[in-house]
Amino acid sequence: MATIDTSVWERLVAAAVKARAHAYAPYSKFPVGAAIRVEGGHIAVGCNVENVSFPCGQCAEAGAVANLAVTHGRRSIQAVVVIGASDRFTWPCGQCRQILAEFAPPDAMVMSVAGDRWSDPVRLDELLPHAFKAVE
Ligand code: THU
Repeated sequence: MATIDTSVWERLVAAAVKARAHAYAPYSKFPVGAAIRVEGGHIAVGCNVENVSFPCGQCAEAGAVANLAVTHGRRSIQAVVVIGASDRFTWPCGQCRQILAEFAPPDAMVMSVAGDRWSDPVRLDELLPHAFKAVE
């Protein structure tokens, strides 16, 4: 399992909390922030952006991946933090697990934050076993 330093998690948590403040979630009233760290140390963030046509809404993790591509290129994701708005941990939805897997190795680590509690970090391939990959 890839080991991520506590100081790295702290930076990611702070970035995800900041990102969540920009969430646009008037329909669900469930703001989410996500922060992604890639090799080299860059961090990209995202927040959920909902739409009156509900299926058009975008998750925080998907926004962070798009932001990553435009700010730092398609680098390999090492660690992800997701913070929602409840006292339960928020984990990436199924679609976002697949989106993350496009740019992350199976041992990329994902952590969720609820209030001041941190989950144990889990491997991406634990969240999404047998991710779809194109035939190589
Ligand atoms: N949401 C995320 O942004 N990320 C997740 O991992 C789960 C759900 C958003 C979608 C919607 O805007 C709101 O949370 C409620 O489902």
